[in-house]
Amino acid sequence: MNETFVYNSLGNKNIKGISQWQSPSNIALIKYWGKKPDQIPMNPSLSLTLTNCYSKTRISYQSEVLSNDDFKFSLLFEGKREISFENKLLTFFDRIKHYCPYLLNLKLIIESSNSFPHSSGIASSASFYSALSLSIMDIEKHLNSKIEKDFFFKKASFLARLGSGSACRSLMGPVSLWGESELFKDSSDLYAIKYQNEINAVFNDVNDTVLLVDKGKKDVSSSLGHGLMNGHSFSNDRIKQAHNNLKEIKSALKTGDYDLFIKIVEIEALSLHAMMMTSDPCFILMKPNTLQIIKEVWEYRKETNSKICFTLDAGANIHLLYPQNEYEKIQNFISLKLSIFCENGEYINDKIGVGPNKL
Ligand code: DP6
Repeated sequence: MNETFVYNSLGNKNIKGISQWQSPSNIALIKYWGKKPDQIPMNPSLSLTLTNCYSKTRISYQSEVLSNDDFKFSLLFEGKREISFENKLLTFFDRIKHYCPYLLNLKLIIESSNSFPHSSGIASSASFYSALSLSIMDIEKHLNSKIEKDFFFKKASFLARLGSGSACRSLMGPVSLWGESELFKDSSDLYAIKYQNEINAVFNDVNDTVLLVDKGKKDVSSSLGHGLMNGHSFSNDRIKQAHNNLKEIKSALKTGDYDLFIKIVEIEALSLHAMMMTSDPCFILMKPNTLQIIKEVWEYRKETNSKICFTLDAGANIHLLYPQNEYEKIQNFISLKLSIFCENGEYINDKIGVGPNKL
């Protein structure tokens, strides 16, 4: 247990209030894949914070002296009660109660909605847990007004990690780093930090168009997926590769070497899927249309010298990353050549962003 983040202020005030945050999703360039107990990643990961794909979460809280150790909360997702989400949330509250014991004396009503369609195949856990953790920190601030901004966001990231690992990277932008790396002295396995190193101006305003190849629910849950790294024949090499790719992308970000950036981003995406394809049990999460799109992107890049590249999450959807100065041309390319490979021709235009907003 890490004691830095334990709330141990004396006295328990009678409080009541509302907190609301909007927090974006993020897309990993260096992938988090594999974890140790307590949501500790096997390797460092690096992500771009997004703008348009976000969750809005509101907590109404009120003191209530409860007789036992149970949490009292209800969750409304897009206006409806969600029992299955409530069970997941219970696991989260259980993980954080040591750090936020005040939650046990509160009655909470949590309301959440997403800017992207529920069944789009875009995971909402990163944006949801980051927004929720910020609201929890607002409650903590209500109890202890001395909390400093730095601690507020660090602990929010620490809590978000306990909800979903990648969520801890949604607390800051435009680039976040989570997981210990000897290259970054402030890096931590416990929370993400804003990427402080130099980022060349060519990476300002990176666009991310999410091509919705498959809007269905994921075939492999994240916990099952990460578990596949335990005892995987290639896991040690994968961890080494992630460290090495982090070093390379750090250099690309600094020097503005877009070709190196593209190489690393695509290797990371394919390596993530290669790990799943070679684990026991094994999974193929890409669909034929995912491969068609990759082929089209590679051809387009060869023909036009474009700086477009792709990355993938643990699913079939493609994130296309490209610079702002190619926006018009690439939007054209997407609508003419790629949208036919998307479910109902759908895709979502997003871009790199700065992080959450208090509402
Ligand atoms: C492939 O953060 O969803 O998107 O910690 O079990 O909630 P849990 O996993 P999650 O895993 C995300 C994995 C990934 C890569 C990444 O975002 O780094």
